[in-house]
Amino acid sequence: MGNEKILVVDDDSNIRNGCAECLISDGYDVVTAENGEDALCKIKDNSYNIILTDLVMGEIGGIELLEYVKAHVVKCEVILMTAYGSVETAVKAMKMGAFSYITKPINLHKMELTIENCLQKQNLESEVVKLKEIVNLYEMCKAVSSLMGLDKLLDSILKLAAKTLKAEGGSIMLYDEGKGELLVKSVTGLVSKSIIGKRVKSGERVAGYVAKEIKPILITGKLEDDSRFQHLEQFTSVSSGISAPLLTKGKLLGVVNLCRKGIVNKFVERDLTLLSVFVAPTAIAVENVNLYEDLDELFISIVKSLAAAIDAKDSYTRGHSERVTKFAIVIAEELGLDEISKRNIQLTGLLHDVGKIGVSKEILTKKEKLTEDDWSQIRQHPIMGATILMPIKQLKTVVPGIRHHHERYDGNGYPDKLRGKEIPLFARIIAIADTFDALTSERPYRNKMSCEMAIKEMKRCSVTQFDPEILKAFLSAYKKNKMF
Ligand SMILES: [Fe+2]
Repeated sequence: MGNEKILVVDDDSNIRNGCAECLISDGYDVVTAENGEDALCKIKDNSYNIILTDLVMGEIGGIELLEYVKAHVVKCEVILMTAYGSVETAVKAMKMGAFSYITKPINLHKMELTIENCLQKQNLESEVVKLKEIVNLYEMCKAVSSLMGLDKLLDSILKLAAKTLKAEGGSIMLYDEGKGELLVKSVTGLVSKSIIGKRVKSGERVAGYVAKEIKPILITGKLEDDSRFQHLEQFTSVSSGISAPLLTKGKLLGVVNLCRKGIVNKFVERDLTLLSVFVAPTAIAVENVNLYEDLDELFISIVKSLAAAIDAKDSYTRGHSERVTKFAIVIAEELGLDEISKRNIQLTGLLHDVGKIGVSKEILTKKEKLTEDDWSQIRQHPIMGATILMPIKQLKTVVPGIRHHHERYDGNGYPDKLRGKEIPLFARIIAIADTFDALTSERPYRNKMSCEMAIKEMKRCSVTQFDPEILKAFLSAYKKNKMF
């Protein structure tokens, strides 16, 4: 039982007061009304869980009150008290939506049971509503965990948790196992953004207590009255709080905290239970993002070692793919491309020359002038690269950039003689990054150029070889010293 409010309506003061006293002693918040008119005035503030009313009273009786409640008041149930002779009317009233009826003379125990059942039904209904929201959250977590980064995911989850549980503020902290500390990752509402990045040791403060004990807690009174937190300063603007650990397979991932400032509407045990249900899919989502990020890191490291293996075929091109990738990402940033595009540029950069795996080492390291045959072998590498990567589902989006990174803006490149914007964007970016690194690196057949010389040469090739807009972005990033 919590703050349930009951309105007792009866024109017989003995019944009215008897019922009220019994319900007050059960811990309910009880208000009485001596007739239908009085009851109507009181119902209007929409704060009652139950109206326990006599069926027959003056002009406005139980039926009229029931009609009014069903039409205008949300989440309020009506229980009728009726003399034996009016039972038929009471049954009709139930068909109109009354929760139940009690026959007079009132058996107080029976009344208490009916009230309890009614409140249980209300709680169940409101939990079903909340559960629906939790299912939505779960679906959202599943959908977004692989698409958005952890920070954005935590922000969305926290906002949804605060909204569902009507909290005025909240935070999510993640557990740093190595240091045994909680790190504030996301805040909402009245919790200040300035605490993002702050750390709390396990066992310290309220969240640290939850992390150490690995159990949810509800705080409704002053911290100084709570033996667990007597040493803590009272949060001045907060009247109640709930915190729950984020757990997967018994492993602590973090803590979710919610707070309210109102003195009237404090959190109750049921809210804590709901938060505990709420955090279960959240923990799975956090774990999924972690797994996804681990998997992604593994994927990138495999791609990097593949790129390094290709560069190593030729001592002159060692580190070439990594440098091209770095320049290409800087250009992508300068162009204002989104995170997904930048990741694709990273992969395209690392793998752009993967097709050189099919070009003989003799040709790649030849100091003499290349023959036409040598050139025809070298010109195959973009096609070879695209062919190698095509079957890998995760790399489909980067294949066009690899196939076309030697196209020229004027249509005189290879392998397909594409021109202008026909050339995929990633390929136009890689072409510039690739040329800049080639010109500023030592080659068997020539010395490396200074950056200034290379830039001069590249400007000369604007429009013929490169997309002028992308070259402009490259030059602008170079001027800002972003290349090195
Ligand atoms: Fe290439």
